[in-house]
Amino acid sequence: MRGSKIAGLGHYLPENIVSNDQLAQLMDTSDEWITKRTGIRERRWVVGDVGATDLAVPAAQQALAEAGLQASDLDMILFATLSPDINFPGSSCLLQARLGVPGIATLDIRNQCTGFVYGLSIADQFIRSGAMKNVLVVGAEVHSSGLDISTRGRDVAVLFGDGAGAAVLTATEGDSRLLDSALHADGTDYEILMLEAPASRLQPRLTAEMMEQGRHFPQMVGQAVFKHAVKRLPEVIDEVLSRNGLSVADVALMVPHQANLRINEMVARQIGIDPARVYNNIQRYGNTTAASIPIALHEAVLEGRVKQGDTVLLAAFGAGLTWGANLIRW
Ligand code: COA
Repeated sequence: MRGSKIAGLGHYLPENIVSNDQLAQLMDTSDEWITKRTGIRERRWVVGDVGATDLAVPAAQQALAEAGLQASDLDMILFATLSPDINFPGSSCLLQARLGVPGIATLDIRNQCTGFVYGLSIADQFIRSGAMKNVLVVGAEVHSSGLDISTRGRDVAVLFGDGAGAAVLTATEGDSRLLDSALHADGTDYEILMLEAPASRLQPRLTAEMMEQGRHFPQMVGQAVFKHAVKRLPEVIDEVLSRNGLSVADVALMVPHQANLRINEMVARQIGIDPARVYNNIQRYGNTTAASIPIALHEAVLEGRVKQGDTVLLAAFGAGLTWGANLIRW
């Protein structure tokens, strides 16, 4: 039966490392507070005018090279980001131009931290149906240009980092494939994690007063988001495993979204997975939202943590609220 498999992965991180101590020079925070609450020790922040697509290009090129494909082999580009280079058109159009493949389908995915999980599932549907053969799925973010790096914004600013990850999905008849995905959203509480302005629902969309109030920066009710994550992640993991006749014991490696090490540790305890089978790299990169899973998955593969035939579980949650999981037979 036709399905899709990950034929190549790539990732790219800006060189500029920003430590917790450096943040403590910009705002009232400390290495101890950040490390204890989140596990994050440092993150990468771009320098100068660098957009999500600039980070996506090398990640995409690496994924194509790993897959042994050219950009001209692609049928579609899916670009998951909450920090598009410009308001419109979408970053998938910019990336398509940079890869030099005019004419193929492009789509931006606005599902925040769950964007890459949605992207893999969308790509899989197009490939499984026979409509397409090769689809590039990218998650890329530049957060640093949009954070309030004063004490007012410290609850959010210390969490986020810049980066990009990419996967090339290709058609297969073999056993190595994306087995299943579970996708969810609940917009009821969208305001607990949002970036409001510039907003089409406001006239004008952005004013100096709104900027003074910080309404052009992300706003988060941290504890509510935390509670959402530790409820929804175990739920969706159980959903995707049980409907495929599998249990946590069958999972060789889980790659969760990297939002907070404490969340991932709590979820691991809840579902009863050995922490050695959970891949975390938030310590080095912070939360790179849509990019976090492909970056972590690629690092895990490069470190030899995944071998052919393994069952790999990806799980994410984020603003929206959104949450989801992919189950992969490697
Ligand atoms: N440095 C120092 N102190 C900080 C701080 C920072 N960067 N950010 C907030 N604080 C302060 C708060 O002002 C508060 O002070 P107060 O007690 O005097 O009022 C105190 O620390 C505790 O704040 P609280 O929000 O209760 O902390 P917390 O234990 O909930 O941890 C988060 C905050 C953000 C780390 C945590 O809620 C979290 O990780 N939530 C999930 C966020 C997330 O994953 N977002 C992305 C989703 S994809």
